[in-house]
Amino acid sequence: MCGIFAYINYSTPKNRKYILETMVNGLKRLEYRGYDSAGIAVDGGDVKNDSQPTVLVKQRGKVKALEEKIFKSDNFDFETQFSTHCGIAHTRWATHGVPNSVNSHPQRSDDDNCFVVCHNGIVTNYKTIKTFLISHNYEFESETDTEVIAKLIKYLWDNREIEDICFSTLVERVMQQMEGAGAFVFKSKFFPGQCIATRRGSPLLIGVRSKSKLSTDNIPVLYSSFAGERRPSKSGGMNLLSEYIKATKPAVVTNHLHVHSVHKESDIEPTQPDEASKKHIPLTNGQVKMERASSTTELVAQRESEGIEFFVASDASAIIEHTNQVIFLEDDDVAAIVDGGLSIHRIKRGKLNEASTRVITSLELELQQIMKGNHSSFMQKEIFEQPESVVNTMRGRMLWDENRVVLGGLMDHIDEIRRCRRIIIIACGTSYHSAIATRQLLEEMTELPVMVELASDFLDRQTPIFRDDVCFFISQSGETADTLMALHYCKKRGALSVGITNTVGSSISRLTDCGVHINAGPEIGVASTKAYTSQFVALVMFSLMMSEDRLSKRSRYLEIVEALKELPEKIKEVLSLDGEIKKLAECLYKNKSMLVMGRGFNFATCLEGALKIKEITYMHSEGILAGELKHGPLALVDVEMPVVIIVTKDHVYSKVQNALQQVVARHSRPILICEKDDKDSMKYASNILEVPHTVDCLQGILTVIPLQLLSLHIAELKGLDVDFPRNLAKSVTVE
Ligand code: F6R
Repeated sequence: MCGIFAYINYSTPKNRKYILETMVNGLKRLEYRGYDSAGIAVDGGDVKNDSQPTVLVKQRGKVKALEEKIFKSDNFDFETQFSTHCGIAHTRWATHGVPNSVNSHPQRSDDDNCFVVCHNGIVTNYKTIKTFLISHNYEFESETDTEVIAKLIKYLWDNREIEDICFSTLVERVMQQMEGAGAFVFKSKFFPGQCIATRRGSPLLIGVRSKSKLSTDNIPVLYSSFAGERRPSKSGGMNLLSEYIKATKPAVVTNHLHVHSVHKESDIEPTQPDEASKKHIPLTNGQVKMERASSTTELVAQRESEGIEFFVASDASAIIEHTNQVIFLEDDDVAAIVDGGLSIHRIKRGKLNEASTRVITSLELELQQIMKGNHSSFMQKEIFEQPESVVNTMRGRMLWDENRVVLGGLMDHIDEIRRCRRIIIIACGTSYHSAIATRQLLEEMTELPVMVELASDFLDRQTPIFRDDVCFFISQSGETADTLMALHYCKKRGALSVGITNTVGSSISRLTDCGVHINAGPEIGVASTKAYTSQFVALVMFSLMMSEDRLSKRSRYLEIVEALKELPEKIKEVLSLDGEIKKLAECLYKNKSMLVMGRGFNFATCLEGALKIKEITYMHSEGILAGELKHGPLALVDVEMPVVIIVTKDHVYSKVQNALQQVVARHSRPILICEKDDKDSMKYASNILEVPHTVDCLQGILTVIPLQLLSLHIAELKGLDVDFPRNLAKSVTVE
């Protein structure tokens, strides 16, 4: 949901063409997060000029359209050299305001673009701030919530009580007033070459590329000297705003994720710039400067000779081609990139054991992992990667020689998990389906009650949670807002939290007590495919780990281990049906609707298959539990309606056969996904996709892949953009 990218160089001079290409390329890598409009803000002149004009280019549509606009523009001399430059960029997935160039980001403070900001998230109190600013004669041009942030920082600048207030201090003060969630990057013509980045609820990381080896592994966290203080209000500046907010909105303690109380810390009078915000910790081999240099120019010169570049992005895929050295920001960190140094500030102290540094992490991601290669789409690439991605999920965890499963991330807590009252799995969309797919096995192998919850509904119901519950949070991105809020909710109630994510360093992987990385590799296609099968495998491995000591389960355990071993080859066999599936798609792509029916271990395949069809073909599709057929859905069945029926030779085989016959009796000609040589079922079908046999609880992996391929082919035949389905984004970081 929206991608942020910023590029800041303090290096050997770069020409504007290079800077613009770097930024556009960064946006392209993030386009899967949102793609209805895009924009950039770059310096208009050279940084030597004190009052640096900022040029904005924004365009409705995909990043390609922005790229064309930039490179056709007469505004730029592409050869202008910059030894210091800060550019910020954004690709948008609209929440407030239709996709058009005015609503796209960066949003600006005024016609002179004094402050510009890119935002991924939501400002929930934007109406209050907007009313306040309008009452102070600030004019608005867009329908976005973000514009209030650009105007608010300008207001704080205009009303500053000290002349040399720091950029990061201004941003800290904005964040004190902001309710909601998001990641932000700021640029200002008053602070040339500086970039301030902050997050609350949405991911943001900073990559560092330096010619020389970085001199530190940790960035200390600096606390603002005004942290937590309340000062008597006098007049002007922030007090006006905080008083206004107080008057119009009584103090409320909300349960919202990451919403902090505006009232607690906003009564801060702008005073002398705090010492902390003056400090910069250079990452290069240079001297550690603890105080802001009297001459910015001197520092810039120092950095120039060392050569250092910073990349700020919503995720690692936009950074990895430049550097693998990154710092993941935590909520409420305010990172200031100034004069070639990076400092991280926090407005308030959190828990006692809060980390006092941010570690510089080496990413293991490879560039080729995020490239499409010869595939027509990322989705196709990711579907065909599944034989390999499930191996990566099992690698080092399935000890085949010993018939053992070791999920290292759970080892320290496995006894506690075995003793728990119940297991609750919380997720959204496809990740939720992976929990549905494995619930039956988890119940069987753990003999514990297993609840599977949609995160949004779980929160709406304020579901009772107890200290002896174990709550699993499944998320490909590790950033989904509803899942993240459910995690906070469960942690607050003392439950043990377990994360199952595909994104190392994501919020869910950092905030849970323990967990499993599914290691499926980056998933770029908006429609989730390989993450689903890897989540499925991770949960199956967990159920094995829970039951390894139970004699009564031993033969079942061994049967599943054996089937996991053969799984990659069987997935390859299913993928070889691609040609047949394409032909089937040719018969189906003009239909308006399609039903997908099954039960037992295959019910999740029905839900997931129908979701894939809906999201990328825009065809209506429903996943139906075959046991519910007579309770309503049968009315939909007639000769026109394509019905996919999934039948495998498990404990519900005869029941699914009944459903099959009922559908045939209503003159439908079902499309069957069944096991090889299941002659009994085949005689009723008009089309048949035969998948290999595996153990019942893994059959859902083999039956879902034909539906992934079917949706892909239908979408392609309809001429749709498979990787960028309309109205959707990969990572949903707002409620
Ligand atoms: C569907 C899809 C979504 C996600 C859902 C949760 O193809 O991708 O339904 O599964 O938005 O996302 P994560 O797993 O990142 O929490």
